[in-house]
Amino acid sequence: MALIPQPVIDDVLARTDIVQVVQQYVSLKRAGTNHKGLCPFHSEKTPSFNVSAQKGIYKCFGCGAGGNVFGFLMGMEGWSFPEAVRQLAERHGIEIAEESDEEREDARKRRDAKKAYLQVMNLAQKFYETTLWGNGGRAARQYLDERGVDEETAKVFGLGYAPEGWQNLIDHLGTNDIPAGWVERAGLALQRRGTSGYYDRFRHRVIFPVVDIWGNTLAFGGRVLAGDDDGPKYMNSAETKFYVKGQHLYGLHAAKQAIQQAESAIVVEGNFDVVTLYAKGICNVVAPMGTAFTDQQASLLARYTRRVAVAFDGDSAGNKATLRCLPAFEQADIEARVVPLKEGEDPDSFVQSHGAEAFSALVDGAEDLVLWAFDQTLPRAENGDIHRNVEGAEAAAEILVHLKNPAVRTRYVQELSRRLAIEPRVLNEYIKRPRKLGEEIKRAVVAAHKPVKLEPAELGILTVLLDHPEWLGDFLTEEYDRLLNSEELSDFLHDAASHHAEAHGLEPARLLESVENQGFRETVQAALFERGYTPDRARQWF
Ligand code: UTP
Ligand code: MN
Repeated sequence: MALIPQPVIDDVLARTDIVQVVQQYVSLKRAGTNHKGLCPFHSEKTPSFNVSAQKGIYKCFGCGAGGNVFGFLMGMEGWSFPEAVRQLAERHGIEIAEESDEEREDARKRRDAKKAYLQVMNLAQKFYETTLWGNGGRAARQYLDERGVDEETAKVFGLGYAPEGWQNLIDHLGTNDIPAGWVERAGLALQRRGTSGYYDRFRHRVIFPVVDIWGNTLAFGGRVLAGDDDGPKYMNSAETKFYVKGQHLYGLHAAKQAIQQAESAIVVEGNFDVVTLYAKGICNVVAPMGTAFTDQQASLLARYTRRVAVAFDGDSAGNKATLRCLPAFEQADIEARVVPLKEGEDPDSFVQSHGAEAFSALVDGAEDLVLWAFDQTLPRAENGDIHRNVEGAEAAAEILVHLKNPAVRTRYVQELSRRLAIEPRVLNEYIKRPRKLGEEIKRAVVAAHKPVKLEPAELGILTVLLDHPEWLGDFLTEEYDRLLNSEELSDFLHDAASHHAEAHGLEPARLLESVENQGFRETVQAALFERGYTPDRARQWF
């Protein structure tokens, strides 16, 4: 997309009344030459948010937010600068010149096609919604009521009902001069086999419109009513040139302001989870509509917040889906946590039986996604046998490989290292190497865990010095370590001496911790136990 020329930007600014735009979000009162209201960017009780129509700017004296109308829309809607300009330009009928004639022609065609598409979707949405609240919608209304979706909530999401019968929608759109072929291309009708006729895709289903961040209806999901066992639970309108499922999040349009206010979002699996949580006053909720959470969905969400709680169904499918979100969150720089739900529970059933407060408490206590993933994939027992730990390292590597921030990764590697008793250095190797090399590294890890074999004389020196750490200083001053063949032993003694020199002494447990080489750690451990280690004696050692 070409850059937007400055004269166009100026023109849009000149023709936009900032007060009018802001008023769509904030109720404003005149105050002298300015307008005043409650700031939408932070929570406050007395108005400190000022808008100047003359200057075309806004300023909050509470939180410091301020700027022109583009900045306002970028902040409120999560739009980029060009998006804000284009949106306002469209509203004022200002054409944004594209580079060449050809580009201009392409852009025009695409715009027209999209306009036609949106018109079909918009009319269809109105048709379904009107039907829901009319005489024919009683069964669907009752179903929504049973599921705890009140009228106000249903209207926020523009829920609807597709009546029984084969061409209600086609006929309705026909009266608006929309040919059945268009309805088919928009994914809302199907062609009758072997004929030129069409029939409605959605029949006798509750309709969930999929709305983009601009408020356009792009697609629909249709759910069977309870008890009616007709076909799959959900049917979705087909993907089109203007609607790719993995690029949108169900409920985002309704949730975006609440997400910004809460400074976090909750991602759930089902459309119904979104709607029933909203009905219970938890409004910062979105759902990926049955796809594995995609990179684009994560980026879309990241426009509004970098803090996300995943609350998928409490079953193995839900857990797997949660694990699979990690790469998408990582690439979008989103800090994700996991809301623990019991087997058989989903957010919807949870709020129905325990209430919204209990759910919010669960969200507040959500565990870091990576640590949760470790819990899911690593062997339970700490100090498990080395082969199981190596398998754990392999599983963990698949998790950690997605973490691109080195500082973040280091933190998790340390945690892992403790849990698996594998050196951080070796773990890092694991994570960096492609799978092919896995076997080789595995051997290296297992080898590193073999106790380092000391010559009998060296083992003797080690046990004596562990027994009489007060001799360690002299031992090293006299450079007796020259006589040692084992580098590990020599390194260890130097380390131990420097720890000892830190005056506050050192417990064997911490001493062991400082031994990086796993194999040698086991040697020292063996030596400690051989000497009949007791806490009392440990205190004498240093
Ligand atoms: P769920 O089965 O969790 O949906 O599937 P739900 O909305 O919570 O339904 P209830 O509570 O049983 O009424 C999660 C999402 O996967 C998609 C839908 O978007 C659904 O909301 N899905 C599910 C389909 O596209 N097709 C299906 O057959 C089922
Ligand atoms: Mn559900």
